[in-house]
Amino acid sequence: MIIDAASPADAQALACIHLAARHAAMPWLPVLHSPESVLWYVRNRVVTSEKVLIARDEGQARGFISVKGGWLTHLYVAPPHWGKGVGARLLETARSDLSALQLWVFEGNTRARRFYSQRGFRDCAFTDGQRNEEKMPDVRMVWVRRGQAAPRF
Ligand SMILES: CC(C)(COP(=O)(O)OP(=O)(O)OC[C@H]1O[C@@H](n2cnc3c(N)ncnc32)[C@H](O)[C@@H]1OP(=O)(O)O)[C@@H](O)C(=O)NCCC(=O)NCCS
Repeated sequence: MIIDAASPADAQALACIHLAARHAAMPWLPVLHSPESVLWYVRNRVVTSEKVLIARDEGQARGFISVKGGWLTHLYVAPPHWGKGVGARLLETARSDLSALQLWVFEGNTRARRFYSQRGFRDCAFTDGQRNEEKMPDVRMVWVRRGQAAPRF
């Protein structure tokens, strides 16, 4: 598996993985955006203004991670490739030069919460979801590299 920087040419593959992984992990989550608008968002917002890494195997995109300003904004792996270490490789590569990282995850997304907690993230705040688009309870999780002073978030 190769991890490298994503480009606008990867937007279609990333949007497909985004849609499939969200549906597989959170079938209860309201779907607010059409596939076309997700593609537009990935192509014109995510790839152009965030640090996006893509995992490829046999020339195919398997997953991606996106980081911006100390926040992990997206981490999605294609469902047929879950449980093979793709997510862990993406996370370790993305945070290799960082001392801290935080993220929002839906409270009901138990698989992702376990994945993050087993990789050093701690629950920091719980909300009732009124501030997110889907209005679903979520959790802010924070990771601080061992030996680093916790930054003020
Ligand atoms: C959460 C998510 C990114 C994890 O990606 P993944 O590629 O399945 O993650 P990994 O394979 O690295 O790790 C998952 C589990 O498989 C296990 N695993 C890793 N490599 C493995 C291997 N070679 N063989 C078997 N199991 C393995 C890990 O131990 C891990 O278990 P754990 O979570 O209990 O520690 C993925 O499930 C996903 O895309 N979910 C939907 C989108 C989502 O919720 N994103 C987060 C939004 S905040």
